[in-house]
Amino acid sequence: MAGDGERNAKGEGGALQGRPSQVVRRTPWEYTPAPESRDVVRIKDRYDLFIGGRFVPPLSERWRTTIDPSTEESLAEVAEAGEEDVARAVEAAREAWDTSWRDLPGKERAKYVYRIARELQERSREFAVLETIDGGKPIKESRDVDLPLAAAHFFYYAGWADKLDYAFVGRRARPLGVAGQIIPWNFPLLMAAWKLAPALAAGDTAVLKPAETTPLTALLLAEVLQDVELPPGVVNIVTGGGETGAALVHQPGVDKIAFTGSTEVGKAIQRTVASSGKRLTLELGGKAANIVFDDAPLDQAVEGIVNGIYFNQGHVCCAGSRLLVQESLFEPVVEKLKARLGTLRVGDPLDKNTDIGAINSKQQLEKIEELVASGTEEGAEIYQPECHLPERGFWFAPTLFTGVSQSHRIAKEEIFGPVLSILTFRTPEEAVEKANNTPYGLSAGVWTEKGSRILWMAQRMRAGVVWANTYNRFDPSSPFGGYKESGFGREGGVHGLEPYLELEPVTGNGGRRG
Ligand code: NAI
Ligand code: MG
Repeated sequence: MAGDGERNAKGEGGALQGRPSQVVRRTPWEYTPAPESRDVVRIKDRYDLFIGGRFVPPLSERWRTTIDPSTEESLAEVAEAGEEDVARAVEAAREAWDTSWRDLPGKERAKYVYRIARELQERSREFAVLETIDGGKPIKESRDVDLPLAAAHFFYYAGWADKLDYAFVGRRARPLGVAGQIIPWNFPLLMAAWKLAPALAAGDTAVLKPAETTPLTALLLAEVLQDVELPPGVVNIVTGGGETGAALVHQPGVDKIAFTGSTEVGKAIQRTVASSGKRLTLELGGKAANIVFDDAPLDQAVEGIVNGIYFNQGHVCCAGSRLLVQESLFEPVVEKLKARLGTLRVGDPLDKNTDIGAINSKQQLEKIEELVASGTEEGAEIYQPECHLPERGFWFAPTLFTGVSQSHRIAKEEIFGPVLSILTFRTPEEAVEKANNTPYGLSAGVWTEKGSRILWMAQRMRAGVVWANTYNRFDPSSPFGGYKESGFGREGGVHGLEPYLELEPVTGNGGRRG
């Protein structure tokens, strides 16, 4: 360990053991620190629950600390909602639905949703800095991706609120009632937007449960909801861990559960919800194939591979974590990737030049370390660029594995970290077979100059989203969701409204049928 307060991240059998052509090219200049100022955010010592339009202390009388994963410094105490608290939040949501929200004309609901979008834009710097402090993601991502997309989601769904009568031909749309929404820590505010925007546009009320490591932007959003004078109880925010989430799933007053998170918890929720009459959508894990054909534009593909797996430290359900390279291109792709990894800047998430921030939690870091160790034990070859990681906090160097076979755990299991497994293929048929050889089915990438091949591949891959010559592109008008163990239901687009609506068939003359 170096004595200068930094430790060397290079793993065993790492970078510099490669052939001379594979030695990492380091950036030939040093960057001056360029930290974004924290002054724009004001973090309170303690946060209560947001129920019925007000912050109220938890009946549970329990709080838990949220930390900055890049320093392990405590940021705030956040209420841990118990069974009774969750019940109160659901009651508040039900009352708001019965007394105001369900009967409010769509054009009036839209105004609130627009106001939320606009306030998010106005306060985007504050939100971005807070997101980065609480969760560890690079400020350039929270600033340029999470915040603009969160605002765009509210703008987009605001536009649907007064058009529900025309959106579903032959079906009449009615709001469902109370939605219970449980979100993860990888895109905290953006996932809150994905859940709340369509619910509000549809005329539902909501109880949102943020993830325990990243509750602060949802709580700042609660302040926005107060500012825009959203009727009390239309959105309630109950912070806490898995038990709080489970309590929300169990509540009889909830009409629909929307969950994004691990496949394991998703399956448990599905068992609980079965035969309760509650609607359910699940957006779970992934192990996406990013497939590079030998006619692909090489440099563009390398950037897409890097974006696909190292974006947000690889804490991305649709991350391109399995790279499938056509055999003849294997060496140049690996060589270029190794060189590119050496230029990625790992460190202070608030620094505007940082590419890879902190791993979200100690628990997640341990999961990544365990899976990476299994990769080496099972015989794959690890590569990490020379890179200095801060002494405190949770960090993992960008990593790639070659010599990976389909049976290796690193080729099968979701690592949810900055770790790429590289495999090869010879023919398009083999690429499809390998891409689909997974219990997941969320996303995939195809890199080729040939348009017909893109279509051929897209038709054969069991993945909810297929990106062609790009990766990790999002737009609120485009539906997102998976097959198989990646879950079901779609978010985004008109498809994302359906899970929040009761859609009844209408007869030709507008009357009801059956
Ligand atoms: P998780 O599934 O436990 O957490 C996601 C959310 O569910 C959090 O808000 C959590 O408090 C809540 N939750 C936990 N247990 C619950 C229960 N029994 N009932 C209701 N809600 C519950 O995920 P975790 O443990 O944080 O991460 C484990 C792995 O899951 C990751 O390593 C990654 O592979 C995967 N994951 C996938 C995500 C995705 O976007 N698809 C997001 C987060 C994690
Ligand atoms: Mg935190």
